[in-house]
Amino acid sequence: MKKVSDNTQKNPLGSLDEWEDDLLIRYPDPETIAAGRDTEAYRNYETPERDTVKEFYRLQHINQTYDFVLEKKADYLKFDKKEMSVWDAFDFLNQLVDDSDPDTDLDQFQHLLQTSEAIRADGHPDWMVLVGLFHDMGKVLCLFGEPQWAVVGDSYPVGCAFSDKIVFSEFFRDNKDQYDPRYNTKYGVYEPNCGLDHVHMTWGHDEYVYHMMKPYLPEQALYMLRYHSFYPQHRENAYSHLMTPHDHELFKSVALFNPYDLYSKSPVIPDWKKLRPYYEDLVAKYLPSALKF
Ligand SMILES: [Fe+2]
Ligand SMILES: [Fe+2]
Repeated sequence: MKKVSDNTQKNPLGSLDEWEDDLLIRYPDPETIAAGRDTEAYRNYETPERDTVKEFYRLQHINQTYDFVLEKKADYLKFDKKEMSVWDAFDFLNQLVDDSDPDTDLDQFQHLLQTSEAIRADGHPDWMVLVGLFHDMGKVLCLFGEPQWAVVGDSYPVGCAFSDKIVFSEFFRDNKDQYDPRYNTKYGVYEPNCGLDHVHMTWGHDEYVYHMMKPYLPEQALYMLRYHSFYPQHRENAYSHLMTPHDHELFKSVALFNPYDLYSKSPVIPDWKKLRPYYEDLVAKYLPSALKF
C-alpha cells in the first residue's frame, strides 16, 4: 500500500470538490444519461483516481463515532467561534481554495450561487433559494481546523448499526462503535421510528449549517439543509426504521433540493453584480445582520 503523509492521512482529498465529483459518478444526472452523454469513464466506479476518495471514506467511517459526534456538537453548537456578516462569511468560506485544479473548479460561492439561481429559475419559494445559497456554508468547519472527513462525505446516523448500503461500508469494521453493544444493533440507542430529530447524524457541514439556520427558516428548508448529504436514506432508503411519517413527508423536500445541489454546476459564472441586490434583499428578509459560527 502507498505510504501517505500525516497531512494526507488527515485530508486525502485534493479538495472538498473531489467528494462531490464522486457523487456524480455514483448518482449521475438522469438527464445526462437520457441524452446519451454519459461516458464509460463516468460510470467506471473503480479507477485509480478514486483512491483518494476511498481513503477519505475509510477515515470517515473509522472516526465518526457516537462519542465523536457528541463532542463536536457540544463544541460547535455553542457558536462562540466567530461572528460575521453574511457577506463576510461567504468571503471567509471562499478561503477554501482548490489546490488540485484551480482552472476548472468554481469557488465555493459560485457553487452556492449556481445552486440558488437554478432554484430561483424554476420558480421555487424564496426561502428555498436561500437554502441553495447557504447549504454548504458549514464547510467553514475546514477553516476551523476540522479534517475533511468531519466536514463532508455522505451523512448517516451514529449510535446504531451502520447500514451496508453506505458507500464503502466495509471500512466500518475499524469503527470502535461496531464492537460496542450499545451502538451496534439495528436501533442502538434509539427507538423504532423515533424520528430523525432524535437521531445523531455524523458530524459535518450539513448538521452545522442546520443548527446555524434553525431559528430563521421553515421546516422544509431545515430538512434540506440538514439532510442534503444523507444519501444512504434519500437514495438508498436505508434508515426508514428510524423515521416517522412526518420525516418521510419532509424528505420530499430533501429530494426536491438534491438535484439542484448535484447537477447545477456549470462553467458559466453568474453575474454577481446584477444579482447582488436581489440576494441582499433576500438575506435581509430572513437572516440577522451577523451570523454566529
Ligand atoms: Fe453540501
Ligand atoms: Fe453543495
